[in-house]
Amino acid sequence: MGLMSRAGRALRRLLGRDVGATADDGVAQLYEERDFLTAYSAHTDLRVAADPQEAVGGMWEEIGALQVDFLKAQGLRPADHMLDIGCGTLRGGRHFIAYLDAGHYTGLDISPAALEYGRQLVAREGLADKRPRLLLGEGKDLSFAELGGARFDLALAQSVFTHLPPELIADCFAHLDGILAPGGRFFFTYHHADAFVQTGLKDFRYPLGHFQELAARHGLRLTDLSAAYAHPRGQRMVVVERGDGAGV
Ligand SMILES: C[S@@+](CC[C@H](N)C(=O)[O-])C[C@H]1O[C@@H](n2cnc3c(N)ncnc32)[C@H](O)[C@@H]1O
Repeated sequence: MGLMSRAGRALRRLLGRDVGATADDGVAQLYEERDFLTAYSAHTDLRVAADPQEAVGGMWEEIGALQVDFLKAQGLRPADHMLDIGCGTLRGGRHFIAYLDAGHYTGLDISPAALEYGRQLVAREGLADKRPRLLLGEGKDLSFAELGGARFDLALAQSVFTHLPPELIADCFAHLDGILAPGGRFFFTYHHADAFVQTGLKDFRYPLGHFQELAARHGLRLTDLSAAYAHPRGQRMVVVERGDGAGV
């Protein structure tokens, strides 16, 4: 049985069709019984089995093109090496893979089903010769151990911090110096609120100051690029780089 049908069965079981519970109960139970990232990984698997485009938030064409157009305007070039943190089912990744030189795109995700869908998409869209690396974040953290010391000119986390609690975002910031090349930049989006608030099982909002403090702690310069980023659901966009402008 393929990954998708296994995930589909698990989805039906978890969403309660076999036990009479509601879908929300099944998913909430997932988060009660497992650590956050293990639950989120399973949750993403289930969502991918149900609808691979909606699993990453939908607006597939619009938000996919938005990401690559924005980063090209910020200086992304085909020769750059890029890391797509939380690449999901390649809503943005398919555009980056097509644009970048062969072997220059790496996607990292905690969901095996999302990565499997991504591999199939790469083949279907004739992008196999671009040799994207699609890696499973098995450590279920953001210490980037699975990257084996590879360094990138540009890293992106689109619609990822919108779903992560503070400790995982702190983990990511603490390990940036191990993944960015000299001059490298890390772009990420977030949902704004005047104070930190969790609005769902995996939905979090932050004030900009939260990221400014993290950047200061790690000697990074932060620039708010939100005015240049027309995200249809109002996500904000920020970039961090080393304070002296030499990259992280
Ligand atoms: C809303 S989706 C966005 C996917 C993609 N960036 C896009 O814009 O289409 C968030 C993705 O981040 C992944 N993710 C969440 N936490 C992660 C982590 N710690 N490491 C790697 N991937 C993660 C999820 O599995 C999911 O596929």
